[in-house]
Amino acid sequence: MAHRPNSKNELSSKLLSRSSATRRKPIEFCFLSLFPEVFPPVLETSLLKRAQENGLAKYSFVQIRDFAQDKHRKVDDTPYGGGEGMLLKADVLYAAWKSVGPRRPRPGSKTKAKAATILLSPQGKKFDQEMAKEFASYSKLVFVCGHYEGVDERFIDLCVDFEVSIGDYVLTGGELPALVMADAISRLIPGVVGNARSVSGDSLEGDLLKYPQFTRPREFQGLTVPDILMGGNHKAIQTWRQKEMEERTRLKRPDLWEKYLRKKGSG
Ligand SMILES: C[S@@+](CC[C@H](N)C(=O)[O-])C[C@H]1O[C@@H](n2cnc3c(N)ncnc32)[C@H](O)[C@@H]1O
Repeated sequence: MAHRPNSKNELSSKLLSRSSATRRKPIEFCFLSLFPEVFPPVLETSLLKRAQENGLAKYSFVQIRDFAQDKHRKVDDTPYGGGEGMLLKADVLYAAWKSVGPRRPRPGSKTKAKAATILLSPQGKKFDQEMAKEFASYSKLVFVCGHYEGVDERFIDLCVDFEVSIGDYVLTGGELPALVMADAISRLIPGVVGNARSVSGDSLEGDLLKYPQFTRPREFQGLTVPDILMGGNHKAIQTWRQKEMEERTRLKRPDLWEKYLRKKGSG
């Protein structure tokens, strides 16, 4: 029987995958911070706002200071043994963390945790697309944003599942790193970016950078769009794009290029 692209089976499987994308419970992002006012302006913009409106993501913010245990609402103190700066206190952080109730699997349990507590830290594992994909499979992510000199180590021992850095530089606080992570993770949730293909074709997917892209006008400041893109030959365009992806990865990101070649060789 001839293949009909709009056959009932194909259509129903499309509908099924769409409904499973929208049926998923929203992924919860919970931010523990001394400066929670940093988050809404970013999360209430563009695709992240739409993700929340469409029930795909939920954001909440906890003011760590609300859990201070003394009348001065003290959240930090000097480090034992001396040294620079102030550390966020373990007891205050612990109370704030407990208030959002991230359930953890019992020790020794083989089931994968549904919630994870992430401490933003320049000492953490460096965030990348692979990690974003892994975190997108959780149902709740609690981000703990450090400030000043950092946090009391005992809070990390008791409550933190992952320490994550967004790069080898030191920022004043964990708020921007948490937003960077939430943005990268959100766009991997099915339905957040309208066209799933635009996510799977992004730079870094498949260890290659994306090919160069152009839009109207055809000529700008003496620079023209490559002829191949104007010809309508989709196979030739595909071949050109693949070549460009490989070439620019080789030139711009030799580390990624090596990884790509290694995987290709072993695949
Ligand atoms: C000034 S930093 C503290 C650095 C700490 N004294 C150290 O040497 O590891 C304050 C807070 O900013 C956040 N932070 C700074 N740089 C970061 C990075 N590259 N990635 C993730 N979080 C970072 C962390 O939450 C950290 O606790």
